Amino acid sequence: MVEPVDTPEPVSRRLPDFPWDHLTSYAERARAHPDGVVDLSIGTPVDPTPEIVQQALREAADAPGYPVTIGLPETRQACIDWLERYHGVTGLGLDGVLPVIGSKELIASLAVHLGIGAGDLVVRPALAYPTYEVGARLAGARIVATDSLTSLGPETPRLLWLNSPSNPTGRVLPPDHLRKVVDWCRERGVLLVSDECYIECNWETASYSVLHPNVCRGSHEGILAVHSLSKRSNLAGYRCAFVAGDPAVVGELLAVRRNLGLIMPGPQQHAMIAALRDDRHAEEQHERYEARRALLRDALVGAGFRIDHSEASLYLWATRDEDCWQTVAWLAERGILAAPGTFYGASGSKHVRLAFTATDERIAAAVARLTG
Ligand SMILES: Cc1ncc(COP(=O)(O)O)c(C=O)c1O
Repeated sequence: MVEPVDTPEPVSRRLPDFPWDHLTSYAERARAHPDGVVDLSIGTPVDPTPEIVQQALREAADAPGYPVTIGLPETRQACIDWLERYHGVTGLGLDGVLPVIGSKELIASLAVHLGIGAGDLVVRPALAYPTYEVGARLAGARIVATDSLTSLGPETPRLLWLNSPSNPTGRVLPPDHLRKVVDWCRERGVLLVSDECYIECNWETASYSVLHPNVCRGSHEGILAVHSLSKRSNLAGYRCAFVAGDPAVVGELLAVRRNLGLIMPGPQQHAMIAALRDDRHAEEQHERYEARRALLRDALVGAGFRIDHSEASLYLWATRDEDCWQTVAWLAERGILAAPGTFYGASGSKHVRLAFTATDERIAAAVARLTG
């Protein structure tokens, strides 16, 4: 007789709910606005991919052979040069950089790929984009959401995530703070991974990489920084990102990823080189976002909102000191879709996150509705 076999729990059940599903009824309400919805609930770029980058992709379109997982030396060198030129990062070699297929896949799979699992602890910021938690749950590890290292007591995590500038709050961690976290992690042998996706989206302050010599004390040991070109260069559709830092950790990731075929396509690598070498398009995009941010911010303040943090990133972290779902509903009545703060953590319950990545025309529509 065949013994009944317990059906294993589907992996998807380990993962958090996909939060955007909860917004559906508000999206319907916002879409019913006679002048159409202004969707500020997600931070997806809408301006064209820079011509110089499109050109590089076209020129590299003939790509019959397999690229290698480690990436072209020119791609890795472009990452190193950009980090040095823009962010003062020194001491990175070609063995300290690995291109990845958008930073989300790296963030979601990092714990699994580094052998973090049951019984291990992963720490993510109190308010954070969901993928750190997804990665920990996929690995079967425990996850704690906190900004306070002392709250961890005697526990030693395997992995600690930072995200500065932050999604959703736009908060920037100053170099002193980053240095303290580096020291804390080093003393305990904790891997520190800093998601620096918004490092160039600064409006009221400067942002620092955890790999800056004044932050990491001139050594990349035990540290990784994750960078994405999605926002800087309107490249979300190309999936261009990289991870940089401790060569021992990068080497281990490479050893795992080459077995899995996680290879950035060759044409995209050439596009990434063009994007990293060109500063002009990034400056133009920065100006566009700055103008949209100022308009939306003023309109929200005029409509009685308070804006907290938001000194960097592509979001305004706004509140009317009421439950975030009430604010989502109030905005949806005006045809504006925002993300409720609870998507990012319990302490976001009185805030909404508004992305200013919409077109000039849609931002103007939102402003008219908020001020009308
Ligand atoms: C904090 C943060 N990290 C990483 C990403 C992922 O970017 P990508 O996968 O496009 O590189 C996002 C996207 O919105 C983000 O907000």
